Amino acid sequence: MPSARPPLGGLSARVFLRDTWQRRPLLVRQAVPGFRGVLDHRALFRLAGRDDVESRLIERGRRWRVTQGPLDPRTLAQRAPRNWTLLVNGLNLVVPQADRLLRRFDFVPYSRLDDVMVSYATDGGGVGPHVDSYDVFLLQGPGRRRWRIAPPRDWRLAEGQPLRLIEGFRHQTEMLLEPGDMLYLPPGWGHDGVAIGECWTYSIGFRAPRGAELATGFLDYLHERGLPDAAYRDPGRQPAAHPGRLDAHMIEFAAQVLARIRWNRADVSAFLGRHLSEPKAQVVFRPPRRPLPPAAFLRRILRSGLALDARSMLLVHGGNAYMNGEAHALARAARPVLLALADARSLSGERLARGAPLELLHEWYRQGWLHPAETPT
Ligand code: SIN
Ligand code: CO
Repeated sequence: MPSARPPLGGLSARVFLRDTWQRRPLLVRQAVPGFRGVLDHRALFRLAGRDDVESRLIERGRRWRVTQGPLDPRTLAQRAPRNWTLLVNGLNLVVPQADRLLRRFDFVPYSRLDDVMVSYATDGGGVGPHVDSYDVFLLQGPGRRRWRIAPPRDWRLAEGQPLRLIEGFRHQTEMLLEPGDMLYLPPGWGHDGVAIGECWTYSIGFRAPRGAELATGFLDYLHERGLPDAAYRDPGRQPAAHPGRLDAHMIEFAAQVLARIRWNRADVSAFLGRHLSEPKAQVVFRPPRRPLPPAAFLRRILRSGLALDARSMLLVHGGNAYMNGEAHALARAARPVLLALADARSLSGERLARGAPLELLHEWYRQGWLHPAETPT
């Protein structure tokens, strides 16, 4: 079940999706009243210093500067307080409160949710006027940011900059966001956010696979699944008049073999489940150092319940569960319980007692993909 109250300022998810999503921007004043963000400078700078966390420092100037992380936390703390911003992606993977924030947007399926990015900016900091190809909710944390936005058009990009900046950006609307306010932007809208004083912004980003990405992945999937094979034979061949010409008989053979490649919707969903649940490149799971054996694991989760690791992606379709890029066929009794786990990302002990595939859950636990809950759920 999705969260009861999406942070849309009283708008229901149904009405938002019908009238606004992918259609027009929306400013929601006090979407998250009293929002103070989910971390402070020290914690942020520490994250920027980690090599399993994606970070970037962006400095505004006549020529902008981009420095990819990891970045030294002490150097960050000593920087002059103007015209720079630090971006950290995938905050939800490492900060539980950011994961909870992301899950408040579960009126959109998880396979469409990307991550929470935080930007901490000093006065005048920002990433410059640009356009994104995905939807985004820009939730204002502490501080204020002035956003200028303009409808989609054929933007011209500035040359000679290390960022994709819009050349000569002219905005249509301007707004000042205060803590707890949120701006939704559909893909293609030009936007430029400038920090007024010290400022934190949390971007809830989405993903949508491109056709070419799916096609490439699907061809790999077909390869792994097994492709039709046949040996080429050409008995009774005539002497070649033009040995340099691509052989028509060979073309015919290739066409026949390729025409035997078949797939159906079950292949498409099997591929998509694996593809969309694949962890991002920088994700590292931490398996338990001394894992409980199956019987003790079972006693523990029946008592406390369990929760998916924040880095895990579990998707369920029909009789299959797709977990972190792997497919598992489920017994009929296990399907509702795994769907409940995929939706809520945690399960109570009581729910686990009814049909949970314990061997599979134990295996996932051993990989660090889920954990017994800390407190009884
Ligand atoms: C920012 O928060 O500074 C940038 C977010 C965005 O423009 O998408
Ligand atoms: Co943007």
